Amino acid sequence: MKNVAVVGSQWGDEGKGKIVDWLSSEADIVVRFQGGHNAGHTLVIEGITYKLRLLPSGIVRKNKISIIGNGVVVDPWALLDEIDEIKSKGVTVSPKNLIISESANLILPFHKEMDEIREDAAGNAKIGTTRRGIGPAYEDKVGRRSIRVMDLVSEENLDHRLEIVLLHHNAIRKGLGKKVYKKDKLKKDLLKIAPEILKYSKPVWKKIDEFKSQNKKILFEGAQGVLLDVDHGTYPFVTSSNTVASSAATGSGCGPNSINYVLGITKAYTTRVGEGPFPTELKDEIGEELGTKGKEFGTVTHRKRRCGWFDGVLVRQTIKISGINGIALTKLDVLDDLDYVKMCVAYELDGNKIDYLPAAVDDQLKVKPVYKTFEGWKTSTKGIKNFKDLPDNAKKYIRELEQFIETKVSSISTSPERNDTILIEDPFKIN
Ligand code: GDP
Ligand code: IMO
Ligand code: MG
Repeated sequence: MKNVAVVGSQWGDEGKGKIVDWLSSEADIVVRFQGGHNAGHTLVIEGITYKLRLLPSGIVRKNKISIIGNGVVVDPWALLDEIDEIKSKGVTVSPKNLIISESANLILPFHKEMDEIREDAAGNAKIGTTRRGIGPAYEDKVGRRSIRVMDLVSEENLDHRLEIVLLHHNAIRKGLGKKVYKKDKLKKDLLKIAPEILKYSKPVWKKIDEFKSQNKKILFEGAQGVLLDVDHGTYPFVTSSNTVASSAATGSGCGPNSINYVLGITKAYTTRVGEGPFPTELKDEIGEELGTKGKEFGTVTHRKRRCGWFDGVLVRQTIKISGINGIALTKLDVLDDLDYVKMCVAYELDGNKIDYLPAAVDDQLKVKPVYKTFEGWKTSTKGIKNFKDLPDNAKKYIRELEQFIETKVSSISTSPERNDTILIEDPFKIN
């Protein structure tokens, strides 16, 4: 058995889509296990760009099965739009290659509204969410009042479930001076699209068990990054799901022993979109340069991403928290023109040197990065496919980074294109 989980090791947008697409040539099944359409995963294949939000990145390849697991929150309208959009690019999507867990929780219009109401009311305390209703939908899931894919089967059941969830939401809406949300129109709208969603619905845990017994290779595709994890991230400036690799098991219905290798996707610098602490953030012309060269604009919300130096302390921490076996280092080419490159190797907090990011947000905002500076390579690495062809200074940066994070660099990405990738260690072939 050789199954691989891919997770982001920073604040998301590390290039998970590109690497999952590249690796999926070897996989039979690609599974999304958490998050929702807050994710935006970009694939570039022979010049054509695909932006995926809910669909697993394996969808673009023929003869692969894509699965949306129980841990994902699904906006059914967003999903149907995405299916139409990708079909218009010539990609086949049918119940033969897409399975959605019958237990996945739905994001409904009042979740999106609640996300917006809260963000608008929060002023300086806003999270900077994607406003897709992710947080409110996960709250209803753990509050045991959610509507799940399977609830679309019967009108009577749907009516009952909507009654329960709207009782809760309307109490809050009234308290906030907002209009109550009416059940009947929503029920009608849901019943209209129900057959389109239900045709993909299956018990995912059972399908995964079957695939495992057929020795199929499964690739679990994480969304967001470990620093956005609701337990381990920069709380409260996080998303509302567990983004760590162990979520792949709970979010799809298999045991942790079904995951043989965890690959952490890691940008050669750091970005963050939304509010919250970011110790190595650069609010100068180098930050601007990284943003421009790296095209750092949100895939989902088109917001400008904040940019900064690589933070070795943070990545070493997320590697340990998420059990990452090796990293795929992405966007190395974005650093090509810089005279020097810096890496954060410690923090200073109240005059003391520390080797980890403290859990309290006030401390996270206070820490000052301690940097090690490397000479730039000032040569293009774009499209390089062999490690030996990299400039010496780039090799030095990668080797020191690898040593600092105590984890192997198992691949390096040198452009957005699928095949512009240096393979050092194949995650599917490691024991
Ligand atoms: P994800 O959310 O982790 O899948 O990442 P996004 O797709 O949101 O953002 C990564 C961006 O970087 C996308 O525009 C990718 O096409 C692009 N990208 C990925 N790898 C590389 C790389 O090695 N070099 C460059 N220049 N761009 C890359
Ligand atoms: P991918 O999978 C980067 C961020 C939002 C916000 C916080 C909470 O493309 O890497 P939410 O809407 O989830 O409640 O927002 O999380 N965020 C992401 N940042 N990449 C993502 O996904 C993200 N998904 C959510 O910007 O700060
Ligand atoms: Mg993204």
